[in-house]
Amino acid sequence: MLGHLLHLSGIDSVIVENRSKNYVIERVRAGVLEQSTVDLMIESGMGERLQSQGLCHDGIYINVFGQRHHIDMTALTGRGITVYGQNEVVKDLIAARVRARRPLHFEVAKVSVDELGSKRPKIRFTKRGKPSEIRCDFIAGCDGFHGICRPSIPESHLRIYERAYPFGWLGILADAAPSSPELVYSRHQRGFALFSMRSNKVTRLYLQCAPDEDLTRWPDDRIWKELLIRLQSDDGWKPETGPITRKGVTGMRSFVAEPMRYGRLFLAGDSAHIVPPTGAKGLNLAIADVWRLSHALTEFYKSGREELLDSYSDECLRRVWRAQRFSWRMTTLLHKPVSKNAFDQRRQVAELEYLMESRAAMTSLAENYVGFPIE
Ligand code: DHB
Repeated sequence: MLGHLLHLSGIDSVIVENRSKNYVIERVRAGVLEQSTVDLMIESGMGERLQSQGLCHDGIYINVFGQRHHIDMTALTGRGITVYGQNEVVKDLIAARVRARRPLHFEVAKVSVDELGSKRPKIRFTKRGKPSEIRCDFIAGCDGFHGICRPSIPESHLRIYERAYPFGWLGILADAAPSSPELVYSRHQRGFALFSMRSNKVTRLYLQCAPDEDLTRWPDDRIWKELLIRLQSDDGWKPETGPITRKGVTGMRSFVAEPMRYGRLFLAGDSAHIVPPTGAKGLNLAIADVWRLSHALTEFYKSGREELLDSYSDECLRRVWRAQRFSWRMTTLLHKPVSKNAFDQRRQVAELEYLMESRAAMTSLAENYVGFPIE
């Protein structure tokens, strides 16, 4: 997205990616886009498939121990969400990059960044064994939590904030028509489950599990049995079942590295911050970061002014921390606590009851869920 926005501003960039094009396109990630993400896709000419295939949702359901409640986000906030897979967004952006004939290198190796404190930092990598070096004005570290950019910043320059969760999500993709037009987040006695979708034919579902859950212990019929128990509600609703086409386990972590800049290196997205998946903020935060970075760079090349580059980290972090708080809250609200602390358990039930009964509490959740305007 950053490459695309820079291209629209007439700024050259080179994208290096160590995975293959197929891997990036096929890897299943989250699928909830905030309105501001959708707006940016459309404004930047990337909205065609999104507008024809994305599923617009006005609300979500929350199933509290079998009772399904609807939160009408559009009525409460005037905004909704769009369900469209992150890998579909990636597919659209790759196609645009290829159409624009701008450099995009897949399957590179041995990537390193250097001379970050200078005005001409360096990126080195090899492609098909052949070494390359790029001298540039700026480096954007959009290389994820496990990427090389954040570790290239001296440790003394970064402050890390972190929280691990004692559970993970077992996620599946199934060839089953979604039986609810909107997502269902469920807090069941046996643990959290989530019903989501990718299209009118494909359902995406998740189950709370151990962070290191062994997938071999989860044959398809066990997964369906557990999903049906945790998701079905007293009103008779339950998900449609079907052949499982993908399975995976996702860990859960909250993480922020501050500041999101070191010299001419700017971190964006997961390289600087990770949210637990509940609430699906990860992609939306990354999009907000790169929107801000593209504006700051455009201003720099237009006028030579660096104010927006200088405020990039602080401005991003305000949104990041707001999403951190929300994702942490959605996670702790909806998962079965591993701790046996009876006070915490009763407090969670009280919080769920409050959410179901108070329009103010629902509005607060909805406002954060649909996301805040980017600017
Ligand atoms: C999805 C993922 C999430 O983390 C979430 O909160 C909602 C939906 C998804 O993959 O569809």
